[in-house]
Amino acid sequence: MLLRAMQYLSPEEVAHGRFCWNEECQYCRVHFDLGPETPNRVGLSCKLMVQEGMRITEMAQEIRYCLRELGLGLTNKDLANKDLTNKDLDNQGFDKDKEEPKGQG
Ligand code: FES
Repeated sequence: MLLRAMQYLSPEEVAHGRFCWNEECQYCRVHFDLGPETPNRVGLSCKLMVQEGMRITEMAQEIRYCLRELGLGLTNKDLANKDLTNKDLDNQGFDKDKEEPKGQG
């Protein structure tokens, strides 16, 4: 699973993240593709298997926060504005029962 792979990068932080590891919280949401000129998709990293050529193009705030020590470009302003609710995900129309945004499946 992709989230487990991320835990190898930052073991303590991901272990202490607010992840349910059960496809419910959506704090592990990522956007990804499988290489150049492949469609961008949305998935839950607690469910998503890592694939050869996979490129993560966007990560939920919780993941970025947990990986902040890796220097992935999250600014202090981003951290200060960290949304501690699922409101952002709801506003983006993400359907937690599917891996695709609402209206695209
Ligand atoms: S960790 Fe909660 S949905 Fe993936």
